[in-house]
Amino acid sequence: MCYQEVQPIAVIDATSNLDNLPFQSCVLYLGDCIEVMKCFPGESIDLVYADPPYNLSKYGLKWSDKQGADRRKSGGNYYMMKETWDMFEESDYRRFSVQWLKEVKRLLKPGGSLYVSCTFHNVGELLVILSDLELRCLNVIVWEKTNPHPNLTRRMFTHSCEFVLFFVKGKNWTFHYEEMKKYSANGGQLKDVWRLPLCQGAERIKRTDGRAAHPTQKPEALLERIISASSKPGDLVLDPFSGTGTTALVAEQLGRKWIGIENDKNYISLSVERLKKVQGALRKEDEHERRK
Ligand SMILES: C[S@@+](CC[C@H](N)C(=O)[O-])C[C@H]1O[C@@H](n2cnc3c(N)ncnc32)[C@H](O)[C@@H]1O
Repeated sequence: MCYQEVQPIAVIDATSNLDNLPFQSCVLYLGDCIEVMKCFPGESIDLVYADPPYNLSKYGLKWSDKQGADRRKSGGNYYMMKETWDMFEESDYRRFSVQWLKEVKRLLKPGGSLYVSCTFHNVGELLVILSDLELRCLNVIVWEKTNPHPNLTRRMFTHSCEFVLFFVKGKNWTFHYEEMKKYSANGGQLKDVWRLPLCQGAERIKRTDGRAAHPTQKPEALLERIISASSKPGDLVLDPFSGTGTTALVAEQLGRKWIGIENDKNYISLSVERLKKVQGALRKEDEHERRK
């Protein structure tokens, strides 16, 4: 495919009128993912990666100095999760999780795959809901963070992993077994423990004051494995909690179509900037290749 022909990124505001909402790839939808997904046709998506709220902000420790100044930091340092989008009452969190996962199941094509990022806070609930929905669990991948946040309390082990639940709908799922071997330390089968750093350095999007623009920006390397393993070039990848657009960006780089949904317009703007840069770089690469 000639990269010049690739669609430019579009943003569709789905916060008010959802009647006749177009279903298009290469689009970031601004709005609530449950409402937006309800407008999409069933069995239309090959792969879903979801990084939902974990409902852990309310457990965050308050970290303030003697003067009471808020010392939550991010960027080079570490961040205490305290985001309003991440705070639910227990029963609301369960209801919310059931609702979005039901929509994801409806949208997945037969043979489609679903990956969900989570921590010990929500893994139990998600596994029960997914099994109630009769999706099939293939792996609980452990993402071992090579640079975890330090443990401040010194009263428990340092939390240094997240999980990525890998589920499929139906029997004929895509899995690029051979291709995954390149990520294995000894060139053999890729195991379900992935050692990757948290997103930091140049990859981490920063605000003008140097702090991280988003508290939970996922590393591109994590998405690269997921998208390469479970989709083919040209497949459609959906991220219902798109944040800074990491899934869209990696999908674009890997020649997949994508859709992102995010309900915070600042994160949508960040994603557009990020995606435009990537599209510009890919266009240049393509021109260079064709001139050779
Ligand atoms: C854990 S973050 C995802 C981060 C993303 N993986 C990245 O790499 O930047 C979850 C995101 O979902 C958004 N969000 C929360 N509830 C939502 C909803 N109901 N619909 C759409 N987006 C939502 C939040 O604003 C947040 O950016």
